[in-house]
Amino acid sequence: MAPPTTPSPRSAPYYYFLAVIPVLLGALFLARPDALFSSSDNATNPAAAAAAATGPHSLPALPYAYDALEPHFDKETMEIHHGRHHQTYVNNLNAALQQLSWQSQEGGAAGSSEQQQLLSVLSADELVQNLDKVPAPQRTAVRNSAGGHANHGFFWRGLKKGTKLGEAGRGGEEEEKGGSPLRTAIETTFGSVEAFQAQFEKAAATVFGSGWAWLVSDEGALKIVTTANQDSPLMGVDVAGCSGTPIIGLDAWEHAYYLKFQNRRPDYIKAFWGVVNWDEASRLYNALAI
Ligand SMILES: [Fe+2]
Repeated sequence: MAPPTTPSPRSAPYYYFLAVIPVLLGALFLARPDALFSSSDNATNPAAAAAAATGPHSLPALPYAYDALEPHFDKETMEIHHGRHHQTYVNNLNAALQQLSWQSQEGGAAGSSEQQQLLSVLSADELVQNLDKVPAPQRTAVRNSAGGHANHGFFWRGLKKGTKLGEAGRGGEEEEKGGSPLRTAIETTFGSVEAFQAQFEKAAATVFGSGWAWLVSDEGALKIVTTANQDSPLMGVDVAGCSGTPIIGLDAWEHAYYLKFQNRRPDYIKAFWGVVNWDEASRLYNALAI
């Protein structure tokens, strides 16, 4: 008769380890709530998290407090969106530029050190307009991270409560008549401001997956376009599928709205109209017209 089996001395630590796993996962989600809402961006990329925020790019301070856009955009989402997601794009961009530097020093495929130096002094907006100058091994990383940095910087500047379309003008004859060049252009192009908003809402709501909706001025013509991921109309039609200079931009990634709106993206888009900085949109449009 076989002797009765006795528990292996290794069993206790093994089961203890199994029991601890859920606790560790819970702690991770408490410490990093954005991990729940960023399935495909870089906020949870370990390499990105490890990358120090050193380099030519840094996170721009918001021109308002995190709770300044309440009740339309909530404070917690703004904190995570700006402080973690945007910061990660900045970190990843600096890391990509650093890799370019190392590879150029080693004589690899990342281009000359002069080329790397030139890229390191470009702003995020300039980088996304010069992706063809970025060596192929780093092009996708720069496209995503510089795009994310440029797009979010644009997004923050374009948010403010209490502005109205028509209050800001570029001066001159049209403003003296009480009109706004941007309002006039929107009404001429789309029929009315309400019709423009409806068309913009539809475009933003139908962005598949993650991306952006934009009002752009494309060689003087106002257009509503969308881009995937962190692409920008500034990248041009060959890269982004559209072109133009952004006047208004709306982040349609889940991380921009999930905490407050869950899967109700249309409600988030409606809330956007309460925080569009029409003064900034008018300033951008007027600057193009000069
Ligand atoms: Fe975002």
